[in-house]
Amino acid sequence: MNRNTENQMLVIFGASGDLTARKLVPALYSLYVEGQLPEHFVVLGTSRSDMTDTDFRNQVVLESNYLKGTLKNSDEAKIKRFAEMFFYHDLGASYDVDYEPLKKRVVALKDEKGTKGNIMYYLSTPPRLYETIAKNLASAGLSTQNNGWKRLIVEKPFGYSLETAKALNEGLQEHFKESQIYRIDHYLGKETVQNLLVTRFANSIFEPLWNRNYIKHVEITNAESVGVEKRGGYYDKSGALRDMFQNHLLQIVSLIVMEPPIGDKPEEIRDEKVKALKSLRTMRDEKTLHDNTIRAQYMASDIQGKMVKGYREEEDVDPDSTTETFAAIKFYVDNWRWKDVPFYVRTAKRMPTKVTEVVIHFKTPHHQIFKESGIHNKDNKLIIRIQPDEGILIKFGVKVPGQGFKVERANLDFYYSSLRETHVMEAYERLLLDAMQGDATLYARADEVEAAWEFVDPILDYWQNGKDVRMYGYPSGTWGPRNSDDLIEGNGYWRNPGAHLTDDENYCVLC
Ligand code: BG6
Repeated sequence: MNRNTENQMLVIFGASGDLTARKLVPALYSLYVEGQLPEHFVVLGTSRSDMTDTDFRNQVVLESNYLKGTLKNSDEAKIKRFAEMFFYHDLGASYDVDYEPLKKRVVALKDEKGTKGNIMYYLSTPPRLYETIAKNLASAGLSTQNNGWKRLIVEKPFGYSLETAKALNEGLQEHFKESQIYRIDHYLGKETVQNLLVTRFANSIFEPLWNRNYIKHVEITNAESVGVEKRGGYYDKSGALRDMFQNHLLQIVSLIVMEPPIGDKPEEIRDEKVKALKSLRTMRDEKTLHDNTIRAQYMASDIQGKMVKGYREEEDVDPDSTTETFAAIKFYVDNWRWKDVPFYVRTAKRMPTKVTEVVIHFKTPHHQIFKESGIHNKDNKLIIRIQPDEGILIKFGVKVPGQGFKVERANLDFYYSSLRETHVMEAYERLLLDAMQGDATLYARADEVEAAWEFVDPILDYWQNGKDVRMYGYPSGTWGPRNSDDLIEGNGYWRNPGAHLTDDENYCVLC
């Protein structure tokens, strides 16, 4: 039991959906096993499915494929106690109904289980229902905080554009205060993403170099080897820029770009992140957008003897779709620290491997003494590996033994896995626990989301309506369209990472 976590109830809307069983319940189970749940804790699932408490417990706990492996080694009485925390309420035909019956169930459970009127609502429904649910909760008096706090967690996407994001924020804020709203971005729950803050602000060796005087450019790669899988319908209306860049990758960018916060309080950190996002130079004219953005789609290809479909052949994808599965963007940050430092960010599906990493490329020393070695060998790089093989790698020059001064690049590496004694929480586990304790540091604030859309909107608009916009193709299992290196200044090229932190560029095992 965790005494920092007050007794509470978690009400999940859309509880019969995949996210509940796949992410939320396994995260809750880990919290339960680690003793992080409060003494009195109840999960009330609700949706339009006709289910009993027992059906719900079976679906998300006892017979769940997502928990099977974990439960195999657990004690039966312990599993039973966990399952008994789960209850279900059938909302009926629609989410837009009178929530009085739901309220009755909530009050009865609160009294019976001693959860003290503290409620966290988790909206795991399609986003078009968010406002409806918030409104109905408020109308039933379920958002007021006079008898226990009320928090509302919403899943991405937070809007589809700047305009829709603003409308959604306003819609939610009509019924819940901003301080009650927790916008989940699971990348912020990743230890390695949070470690960006620590790397920068807890080490005097990096921060003095973290600026235009020493950094040549910043590169971020987010690659996935999978295609759109069963989510073609959703993805075709979204695309790489909306699905990954606007949220997860701009969150990473904000942590790299931000100024040091005054302290580690949620608002102190979030204020700096918003400032960082607002200082991204928005690209408005067609030429800038043309020269600094590349989009592409994966095409059918044979990967290790297995033929994989092209994007346009995927289930629920329009055969003439112009939705991008690859996006690469070059941009600048208009502030003192980052003037003239290019940022390169790319994200794609069906690349050779799954990897997310940040590469800080340092400038070469101002005066070259050891002229014999190639310039790339002398470049220092700081590689922050978000996933997998999480860790940090510094590439620096060392002397090759022998006569003269030949310089070779060597690796200095740190791996999270070397911290064996520490339990690394899964993203959802960490984020749920934070919300339960009222810590919103790792949740996106309304102005943060809007600032990100402000930057992304003109790119989307250009890709949809601009003249001479190209959609490139890339064979599945490759690093994207051939011309993507053209984006990098000075004959540069993307670092194509391997599955392991120290794999050299372009090294890749495909299976
Ligand atoms: C989700 C996207 O937000 O993040 C998916 O909708 C993507 O398309 C996923 O696959 C990637 O998350 P992770 O944690 O596996 O990198």
